[in-house]
Amino acid sequence: MQNRPRRLRLNEHIRNLVQEHSLTANDFIYPLFIKDQENAQEAISSMPGIYRWGTESVLRELEEAQELGIKAFAIFPVIAEEYKTLNAEESYNPEGLTQRAIQRIKQEFPDLILITDVALDPYTSHGHDGILENGKIANDKTVEILRKMALIQSQAGSDIVAPSDMMDGRIAAIREKLDTNNHQDTLIMAYTAKYASSLYSPFRDALGSLGAKTSQSNIATLERAINIPQDKKTYQMNIANSKEALKELDLDLAEGADIVMVKPAGWYLDIISQFKSKSTAPIAAYQVSGEYSMIHAAAGAGYINLDKAIYESLISIKRAGADLILSYFAKDFLKQIPN
Ligand code: PBG
Repeated sequence: MQNRPRRLRLNEHIRNLVQEHSLTANDFIYPLFIKDQENAQEAISSMPGIYRWGTESVLRELEEAQELGIKAFAIFPVIAEEYKTLNAEESYNPEGLTQRAIQRIKQEFPDLILITDVALDPYTSHGHDGILENGKIANDKTVEILRKMALIQSQAGSDIVAPSDMMDGRIAAIREKLDTNNHQDTLIMAYTAKYASSLYSPFRDALGSLGAKTSQSNIATLERAINIPQDKKTYQMNIANSKEALKELDLDLAEGADIVMVKPAGWYLDIISQFKSKSTAPIAAYQVSGEYSMIHAAAGAGYINLDKAIYESLISIKRAGADLILSYFAKDFLKQIPN
């Protein structure tokens, strides 16, 4: 036999020497849910081990994550019902929760990288990522608000604004707004290929937004009143398409995105791999709430080993071509990096 591939698998040290991919703390962005109650630490039932933190208690969580080497955090605000409106005015309130959280965190940890979500869903009474007009999502009106929102976040100290809404033309519009207001150094991480996935439900539970179990009846009433479906299929991508992702990639890069993202990650490795081969921009992948919850549920039932499944899910995302990974497992993984 000329070739015996198994020689390279002979023992652990040889396997490690020829291993192609690995994960370090630098690969991770850790998502955090923040609520307007200083010392909150509220469990999220569909996401074991993940909490809604307050603007003070979150500092503890940040410290723990930093000890593990994590330097980048994505912040998602839980907005109280009374601040949700049809036109999402709270999204660009300079005193709003996200802005206050950024300021507080930066005061304590000035060199941490904070990434803020630019999308209206936490702020609209109906939970959609856009403004409604005659029962439809009005793209350009929504983009106008996203521009204001991105600038307000940047002014509060956000390092990277991350539009997750999938409106057309928002990257160029946000870039222009930031640049003309002297915020040239704020990065844009575009949710470039964000699919209309079933895997966001636990996240929506965490935020109490559209499709959350907790606000189901509320939404149904609204849905009848405004006559618009509960899903996000008129803006998030069709899960059956991949060419469309490449179109979005071309557009976001041309419009000035610094980092492009694929979301979800684990069921969309083909898209990550195509992005990697088609562009020189850093590729982010978001291992979303449903991916986290599924792995936990299967491990909890004793069907799979939790630590091994966490590692396999993450290294697969890296192997596919992701440079950065947003994952709720970031801390758990770094606590015990396997070989
Ligand atoms: C909303 C947003 C969503 C997520 C991040 N930003 C949910 C959605 O589009 O409905 C999902 C993240 C996750 O599931 O972990 N703009």
